[in-house]
Amino acid sequence: MSDIYGVILAGGVGRRMGNIDRPKQFLELAGKPILIHTVEKFLMISEFEQVLVLAPQPWIAHTSDLIRRYIPEPDRSRVAVTAGGETRNETIMNAIRYIEQEGRLNDDTLIVTHDAVRPFLTRRIIEENIRYASECGACDTVIPASDTIVESTNGDTISNIPNRAYMYQGQTPQSFRAKKLREVYESMTEEEKSILTDACKIMVIKGERVRLVMGDVTNIKITHPSDIRFAEALAGGLHAE
Ligand code: CTP
Repeated sequence: MSDIYGVILAGGVGRRMGNIDRPKQFLELAGKPILIHTVEKFLMISEFEQVLVLAPQPWIAHTSDLIRRYIPEPDRSRVAVTAGGETRNETIMNAIRYIEQEGRLNDDTLIVTHDAVRPFLTRRIIEENIRYASECGACDTVIPASDTIVESTNGDTISNIPNRAYMYQGQTPQSFRAKKLREVYESMTEEEKSILTDACKIMVIKGERVRLVMGDVTNIKITHPSDIRFAEALAGGLHAE
């Protein structure tokens, strides 16, 4: 079996969360930082060689402190903290560079990349990501769109209403053969890179196959202040189960 790495993307600053004293991944949820909930989910999976946490440069020391405080040995030794990049995709590239510098990057190395601010993912979702990425080379976690998607290219009038049966909402993890992802990313023009909002789109634009993994409606991303209240309710419900 090739090496598999968990890659937790915690390199953002959380602008849409409004005026907060720290990036949203460090806010508390049910008694501990959101990031720690996510790291704990990854550590449940024994297939991961290591779980990498990519943090904003000024927050690296704080992130390492949190790992020391909340994650006991022997799990703690499986976690490494390193710097994120300017964009989400650059953060993923930094993770691949880290694995390379450790001398562990080969053609089969798999990365399971996940938003630090989606703390409710499940073991099943992670395991299916590992399985589908090893079979197909890339996979994306999605749920069927519950609302009809309305497209407007001018923000004023409708340009298209795609058939809802074909529409999904993207979540994470998104998992890849690391070397292949980097090779395709590096083959893109700066203009192509600038319109990428999503790592799977790197593969899709270049015609590579990406398998779907069924996500879960509870696998929410904490983006806006109201999401924190929703997440607290969800965390309470999960504890009560
Ligand atoms: N992320 C990252 N590196 C970046 C930008 C984002 O690792 N340069 C991570 C975020 O930390 C987050 C995930 O990608 O866990 C999803 O991104 P998003 O919700 O957009 O987070 P932010 O960029 O922090 O938020 P905002 O867009 O509101 O500033």
